[in-house]
Amino acid sequence: MARRRQIYEGKAKILYEGPEPGTIIQYFKDDATAFNAQKKGTISGKGVLNNRISEHLFTLLGQIGVPTHFIRRLNMREQLVRQVEIVPIEVVVRNVAAGSLSKKLGIEEGTQLPRTLIEYCYKDDALGDPLVSEEHIACFGWATQEEMHEIADMAIRINDFMCGLFAGIGIRLVDFKLEFGRLWDGDYSRVILADEISPDGCRLWDMNTGEKLDKDRFRRDLGGEVEAYQEVARRLGLMPEG
Ligand code: C5P
Repeated sequence: MARRRQIYEGKAKILYEGPEPGTIIQYFKDDATAFNAQKKGTISGKGVLNNRISEHLFTLLGQIGVPTHFIRRLNMREQLVRQVEIVPIEVVVRNVAAGSLSKKLGIEEGTQLPRTLIEYCYKDDALGDPLVSEEHIACFGWATQEEMHEIADMAIRINDFMCGLFAGIGIRLVDFKLEFGRLWDGDYSRVILADEISPDGCRLWDMNTGEKLDKDRFRRDLGGEVEAYQEVARRLGLMPEG
């Protein structure tokens, strides 16, 4: 088979041209990076798990009416998705204080937030994805106000759904990152959920033990990364029992 044309290689994924116009293949790598790629490593088997977990979550979100780029999983490491123009904003949804929020504001990790907090970061590796306000987004035209309303609405719906889903399998959804893309139809576009949702971009804590089941195991040198991702997949019913 002729090798497909590579469109882009990111830190954890490679994008290839898809079989039909308007489609893309997302290939999930085992590479892991943290702290804006200052720390690099490999988590053997991570790509396979993230492909499967993200497929599952995007499928469920699609079923509750959240528009997503996901079309279907192709194999262990690849999924077919709709081609979108990525909105250059990382949307971080937080339920519990952790990570950069705790560090920046001196709030103890694990503190339940009084309400869900949505943060926006400008997607720019060279700048370290800086935190920005909706004023910055409007001022520099990274997204329209209408798009930002849709994005915030979807982020809240996704959070409500995922909090319940994870609570049902004994996992506290602390925070997570989303990306959205524009799907063009002639002169019109609408924003849909893009990228992936996996333990790479979520904080997932065991509700009873507080054990971290996400990329913080890599970031904080805790070890057991692949076992943690496998545990998430297992609880979601995605691993053969036994
Ligand atoms: O580092 P910070 O506390 O801001 O991260 C918040 C959440 O967003 C975490 O779940 C983290 O995994 C995710 N995130 C991400 N990619 C980034 C920044 C944050 O997936 N570039």
